[in-house]
Amino acid sequence: MKDLNKQLADIKVVPVIAIKDASKAVKLAQVLIENGLPCAEVTFRTEDAALAIQYMREACPDMLIGAGTVLTSAQVDEAIKAGVDFIVSPGFNPTIVKYCQQRNVPIVPGVNNPSLVEQAMEMGLSTLKFFPAEPSGGVAMLKALSAVYPVRFMPTGGVSPSNVKDYLSVPSVLACGGTWMVPGDLIDNQQWDELGSLVRKVADIIS
Ligand code: 3PG
Repeated sequence: MKDLNKQLADIKVVPVIAIKDASKAVKLAQVLIENGLPCAEVTFRTEDAALAIQYMREACPDMLIGAGTVLTSAQVDEAIKAGVDFIVSPGFNPTIVKYCQQRNVPIVPGVNNPSLVEQAMEMGLSTLKFFPAEPSGGVAMLKALSAVYPVRFMPTGGVSPSNVKDYLSVPSVLACGGTWMVPGDLIDNQQWDELGSLVRKVADIIS
């Protein structure tokens, strides 16, 4: 099995996607790959999420694909069936964590304070989403948590071109997540060139 931490650390920025129409998923995946971000966290905020993951997986077998905004065990099942590499939840939900562990799929749950980090550690987790990053204290909070706990973080929520390098410079940060390079309207309108140049800008910032 591929090592998730290593893959996240190599990729550095995870595009967080809400896709309304799964028929656009393959083209979107190709634009991400061609422009230097071979990764997607497809959120279950849209009905087409599982189908989009399935299409991306079939067309791009080597792409790192996660399911985001996973809130129920049924969504975990759907995501696994569609072929995800990992699951992300916005908060720390022990039921979801346990279920992912039972099903042997990596889970990266959201935390934003010391108590939640400790509860996640108690369940054997060491890779956590720091969410919502900016409203929760940003880089300063992340540094404070990292000084205490031997865990790795994926900050998401308010990460942008102007602060992504600050987050990535914190040693405990594996990768940052964000929606800014995959705006829904560009996907809806199939503006692939514009989307490609946003993705390329991120790849340039982090290279
Ligand atoms: C997420 O689901 O991780 C967040 O909605 C992403 O936050 P952003 O839109 O501020 O990048």
